[in-house]
This record gives sequence, C-alpha cells and structure tokens, in this order.
Amino acid sequence: MELKVERDSDIESWMEVTLVYNSALKQISTKLEILNDEFQHVHRYNPIEHIKSRIKTSESIVKKLRRHGYESTIQNMVQHVNDIAGIRVICSFTSDIYRIADMIRNQSDIRVISIKDYIVNPKPSGYKSYHMLVTVPVYLSDRIIDAKVEIQIRTVAMDFWASLEHKIHYKFEGNAPEYIKNELIDCARMVAELDAKMLSLNEEVRNTDQKRD
Ligand code: GTP
Ligand code: MG
Repeated sequence: MELKVERDSDIESWMEVTLVYNSALKQISTKLEILNDEFQHVHRYNPIEHIKSRIKTSESIVKKLRRHGYESTIQNMVQHVNDIAGIRVICSFTSDIYRIADMIRNQSDIRVISIKDYIVNPKPSGYKSYHMLVTVPVYLSDRIIDAKVEIQIRTVAMDFWASLEHKIHYKFEGNAPEYIKNELIDCARMVAELDAKMLSLNEEVRNTDQKRD
C-alpha cells in the first residue's frame, strides 16, 4: 500500500488524518449521546439503541481512490473520500431516524453537505438507511479543521438486513445468484413491514400509557 504525502495541504500526514477524523467521530458520538440522554430525560425513552463508529482503513481508502481514478495522496483522500470517518446510529423505530437527523441538522456547528434518504428511495438491492454527510469543526492547537463524517441512521431491522446483505455481497464478490438477490429483496420488504408494525404497536402502547398517566 503506497501513500503519497503532500506537504501543501492542511492535513499533512496520515497520522494527522487519523487524529483529525478520530476527533470528529468523538465529537459526533458525544453530541448523539447528549441528545439521547436529553431525550431520555424529557420523553422517558431512548431513540438510540446503539452507535458504532469506525475509521476507514488506509487500504480501503487507497482502493476507493483507485476505483475512482485518483492518485493515493492525502489531498485526494480528504477531498474525495467522504467516508473516512463513519458513524452508524441504530434506532428502534423509523420515526426516531428522522428525529435524530433533525436534531443533528439543527446543531449550529454542524454543516450538512448532503443527504441520501434510502428509506424513501431504497436502493435496487433493497438497502434502506438514512445517510447524512456532515462536517464538524475539530479544534487543534493552532487551527480549526472541518472534518467530514458520514452518518448512517437506520433501524435495528434495517441494520440486520444490511449486515447479511453485506456478507452475501462480499462472499459472492458482488455477483450473488439471482434467486438470492430476490430473496434479499423479499426480506427487505418484510423488514419494512416489521418496522411499520412495530412503530404502530409502540404508538398504541404509548397512547394507552398517556391515558393512564
Ligand atoms: P460508496 O458506496 O462508499 O462508494 O459511497 P456512495 O457515494 O455510493 O454512497 P452511498 O450512500 O451509496 O453508500 C455509502 C455506504 O452505505 C456504503 O459504504 C455502505 O456502508 C452503505 N451501503 C450503500 N449501499 C448499500 C447496499 O446496497 N447494501 C449494504 N449492505 N450497504 C450499503
Ligand atoms: Mg455506493
């Protein structure tokens, strides 16, 4: 794996890239934890089931750059690879996804670069998730760097589907047999049905609780 380091960019070395993106992940994770705690305090329930975060390995960054026809330089990495820092937020209900997305969007130091709503518009594979590409300022001793973070928000059921689909995709190197692809599309439909049913059941229960309170 060869990585060319250019001195003219803001971020000068791989070590620094890792430091900056790790700090960005910490900031977003903390923001999400605070929102979850506040939500628990006000509404007596947690919209977030759990959070997973990761920094893309240098190998897969280089692979991605190559795939898009870019040289492996730090500059190209920072400019063209949007998911060096990735965070996945797993919720119980579909409604929580949009609630969390709104809360993130409303934070004044976060800038939303793009949104991909694969819940409203699922991928042909059946993939569903809400993606936000944001920047968050990272305060270093002598400067501030706006670091990109890819946030994927989805339900437990959507996440279950995505993990299996990812495993299958990997196993068949992207060329899974048609019948498996069709089964996955069918599972995605069941996931959507399950999510809708769980949501309405939960609302029904909450309404009964409110009447009782
Ligand atoms: P890359 O796919 O990373 O090149 O970025 P993109 O610009 O196409 O963005 P997109 O939002 O489509 O995908 C970003 C990430 O979402 C991927 O790296 C995966 O983690 C996830 N993802 C997208 N499509 C699928 C899918 O069909 N199945 C699964 N399991 N995950 C997906
Ligand atoms: Mg993609």
